[in-house]
Amino acid sequence: MKKAAILVSLVLTVSTLLWVTAWSQEDIVVLDASAFENSQRPPSVFVHEEHNEKAEIEDCNACHHVYDDEGKLVEDESSEDQLCSDCHGLDAEGRQPGLMKAFHVNCKGCHLEQKKGPIMCGECHQRG
Ligand code: HEC
Ligand code: HEC
Ligand code: HEC
Ligand code: HEC
Repeated sequence: MKKAAILVSLVLTVSTLLWVTAWSQEDIVVLDASAFENSQRPPSVFVHEEHNEKAEIEDCNACHHVYDDEGKLVEDESSEDQLCSDCHGLDAEGRQPGLMKAFHVNCKGCHLEQKKGPIMCGECHQRG
């Protein structure tokens, strides 16, 4: 009996965790700009799932990248469980751009390259 009760509570805990993770992932609509000390712009809109579907991006590490010690991109690994700010500080470190530049190069870089997606400040940093 006791074993069964433990098993049931374990299953419940795990499924709650899975549900919360799935929910928070789908929930990104606007990016979290709390890593910036004094934000000058409203945080950027970015509807994670919808954006990546519409833009037809298949590799998570097109954004959630991992580099090895020599600065080479590790093709089959992803840092999706980390925030950009976990690695990118506000200031650049060697070849690693500071946080604002990291976002701008990643986001605008691809939009410019593909000639699709916003490149004007107010299209990403929308008020309200
Ligand atoms: C493709 C989308 C995009 C465009 C276009 C863009 N940004 Fe950003 N910007 C971001 C993202 C994403 C961040 C990271 C945090 C956030 O959402 O504010 C950011 C961060 C910033 C920050 C640091 C955080 C803050 O609010 O102080 C500033 C300043 C900024 N952008 C200014 C600009 C200016 C000025 C322009 C136009 C020249 C611009 N951005 C265009 C996406 C964009
Ligand atoms: C176009 C860029 C892009 C692509 C492609 C992308 N993501 Fe993201 N993802 C982001 C950004 C930006 C954030 C917010 C990170 C931050 O706030 O520092 C994020 C956040 C997340 C988070 C939440 C992280 C946290 O701890 O809050 C998860 C989970 C995630 N992405 C999973 C994925 C998976 C899985 C894929 C592939 C199927 C994927 N992402 C593809 C840009 C992208
Ligand atoms: C696990 C740590 C880590 C995480 C998480 C991370 N980066 Fe990076 N990033 C790096 C390192 C290291 C470099 C420098 C690579 C080199 O040596 O050239 C880099 C380089 C970059 C560059 C310049 C080179 C390039 O790929 O264009 C951009 C832009 C960038 N990161 C954006 C982002 C964004 C946006 C996120 C979040 C979605 C992010 N990074 C998450 C470690 C990370
Ligand atoms: C690898 C390429 C790529 C990257 C990286 C990328 N985008 Fe996009 N983005 C696109 C494409 C392609 C579109 C146009 C999709 C369409 O409507 O056909 C787009 C469209 C958008 C739009 C318009 C609304 C929408 O959801 O379609 C916004 C806002 C946007 N991107 C914000 C961002 C932000 C913020 C980042 C960085 C965190 C980012 N994008 C990174 C390719 C990219």
